[in-house]
Amino acid sequence: MKGVILAGGHGTRLRPLTHTGPKQLIPIANKPVILYAIEDLRDAGITDIGIILGTNMPEKIKNALGDGSEFGVNITYIMQGEPKGLAHAAATAKDFVDGDSFVMYLGDNILKSGIEEFVDGFDESEFASRLLLQEVEDPRQFGVAELNNEGKIINLVEKPEHPKSNLALVGIYLFKNNIFDAIDKIKPSWRNELEITDAIQQLIDEKQSVDSFVVEGWWKDTGKPEDVLDANQLILETIDDDISDEAIIEDDVKLKGRIQIGKNTTIKSGTVIKGPVVIGENCQIKGYVGPYTSIGDNTEIIETEIDSSIIIGNSTIHSDKRITESLLGENSKIITDNESYPKGRSFVIGENSIVKL
Ligand code: TTP
Repeated sequence: MKGVILAGGHGTRLRPLTHTGPKQLIPIANKPVILYAIEDLRDAGITDIGIILGTNMPEKIKNALGDGSEFGVNITYIMQGEPKGLAHAAATAKDFVDGDSFVMYLGDNILKSGIEEFVDGFDESEFASRLLLQEVEDPRQFGVAELNNEGKIINLVEKPEHPKSNLALVGIYLFKNNIFDAIDKIKPSWRNELEITDAIQQLIDEKQSVDSFVVEGWWKDTGKPEDVLDANQLILETIDDDISDEAIIEDDVKLKGRIQIGKNTTIKSGTVIKGPVVIGENCQIKGYVGPYTSIGDNTEIIETEIDSSIIIGNSTIHSDKRITESLLGENSKIITDNESYPKGRSFVIGENSIVKL
């Protein structure tokens, strides 16, 4: 089997972070979100992976992942260009898939349980597709599946007003080669995209069997800033202690809970860190770092309290107000300046930034 990870798209809901790179590289617990998909595929025994690239700085994804050997997989890059829908993205992988069954994995999705059980037995089965589903409280904002009593899918509806079940489509799909014929037959939707739900409905209409698998444990689509922070919290819940021998922990530091600290990072005297927290390499930390915080490499935290946040890296924070539930792109600075005039708050922020004072 092969793996196809979708890493195109515009990522408009994650601006301004996506002005400087694709959203699939945003770190969750200091690791790019797309790496979680790569590891899930590898752990399910799928090492031939095609990555679909869009127009938003695709070279950054190539630079970060290379040929995949560092992660135990073999990566082929496939250009989609403009995002014309999930089914359009899938169709660009036809030559790469080359007649095999494949897993299609949205590159901004994270799943706690991995995909081994989901993938198990599909290749040999009679099913044309198998969809990963999760029970959700309000299915109206998702693609929703209706099942018969054998668990086969009989109907799929995007964001239904009156959902027929509470089973939402998770962004991970299994297909056989005939999905490409189905995609050839569908027309663009009202938003002018080739929808994967329409292609799967086409399979169902042609009386092909579409199986379902309801996933336990959490699943997160990291499409919006609050989802990225939620995913960070969920992943940090699962980390182990790992403090580098090359980290410097000064006297009078309090470390509580599960904490990871990278090499050449200094935790200065007086600091309190309450895990789960991940801190990268070459950081200087003085202050309070509270639960669910990920701090990327080369960051300085000076006399600051921070919790429930992601600092991507290369940043300086010196704030007399506590920073909470924040998502900071690279090379950010938040500085308290009580010395100089005129007094006031000063900003240099990009399009779509949010500042809560
Ligand atoms: P979305 O989050 O639905 O789309 P987007 O990335 O354009 O984001 P936004 O709505 O904020 O502008 O995409 C889900 C995943 O699929 C994501 O990893 C990007 C990828 N994708 C493609 O690779 N090609 C496409 O044509 C589309 C629509 C998405």
